[in-house]
Amino acid sequence: MNKYSAIEFKDDRLIILDQTKLPLKEEYISTDDYERIAVAIERLEVRGAPAIGVAAAYGLALSLKNNRTGCEEIFNKAFQRLFSTRPTAVNLFFGLNEIKNVFKKNKDSENLYSLLIEKAVELHNDDIKMCDGIALNGLKIFTKKSRVLTHCNTGALATSGNGTALNVVRHAFENNLVEFVYADETRPLLQGSRLTAWELSKLGIPFAINTDSTAAVLMKEVKVDLVIAGSDRIAVNGDAANKIGTYNLAVLCKHHNIPFYIAAPTTTIDKNCMSGKEIKIELRDKKELTHFGGTQVTSDEYDAYCPAFDVTPNELITAIITEKDVHKPPYNFNNV
Ligand code: MRU
Repeated sequence: MNKYSAIEFKDDRLIILDQTKLPLKEEYISTDDYERIAVAIERLEVRGAPAIGVAAAYGLALSLKNNRTGCEEIFNKAFQRLFSTRPTAVNLFFGLNEIKNVFKKNKDSENLYSLLIEKAVELHNDDIKMCDGIALNGLKIFTKKSRVLTHCNTGALATSGNGTALNVVRHAFENNLVEFVYADETRPLLQGSRLTAWELSKLGIPFAINTDSTAAVLMKEVKVDLVIAGSDRIAVNGDAANKIGTYNLAVLCKHHNIPFYIAAPTTTIDKNCMSGKEIKIELRDKKELTHFGGTQVTSDEYDAYCPAFDVTPNELITAIITEKDVHKPPYNFNNV
């Protein structure tokens, strides 16, 4: 069991480990205000597709903590606010819609707030179980003790359980199937060099951080046996959106004949989305490129293009690991 969690719900408050400060400081945000939770999602204080889904679910439920009258108006306002925080991870919309369904069925109930919180806790617990299932299924992709490269952060910090892709790595390491991990730095917000490194170090897994552009050389020098990443939204045809730079890795893997895996819970599958073309990609503030750790590093008069995610086409994905199975191509997630 981890000694850290991205989020915790305690005494009717959401406790968020502030990921913008890691690994230099471990600071927590404690709030019962949905607006503060929305801001935390926008600032990436809480991040990672499953974690923002569960945080948003708690946020929406908390919007009615102190509001008995006019609750429909408040609830709808909170729903819209949380819904508009980030566009790519489908888990966010899944979490919010699950809470909305409970609201619709029980809006006249005396116990409305408790019922909403109960649902958020259920989603939290489901996420923990899905993470465990992914780790178990993930063992099946290892044919030998491997050197793994990963991108962004997909560990406990990105979920409300033990993680997705990084949880596969953790479980495989415990089973003596991982020798070494290369953690892509993950420009521009450094989820790899700050967050994945922090988790790997806590887990005692041998690793090195590398710039994203080092991946090709590592593969050429035969230092990587497999690549595994997470996803923010998987289309029915298996196209998978993930942190910007993931697509580059899949192309590199194809060239070097290295397997490329995606690991994600089934809540990341969007059955309304037939292919990656329909996935909305978040564009971030250009300050994330013009500034580094708060310091300006280039002229802010320059234009900047800052997509937070890219889509890896299904034909580059060796398999997609969910809590249900190791899905192989051709992908069809209509019935999963
Ligand atoms: O912008 P972020 O840090 O929220 O992006 C997160 C990722 O891209 C993760 O790889 C993805 O959410 C899967 S997390 C289990």
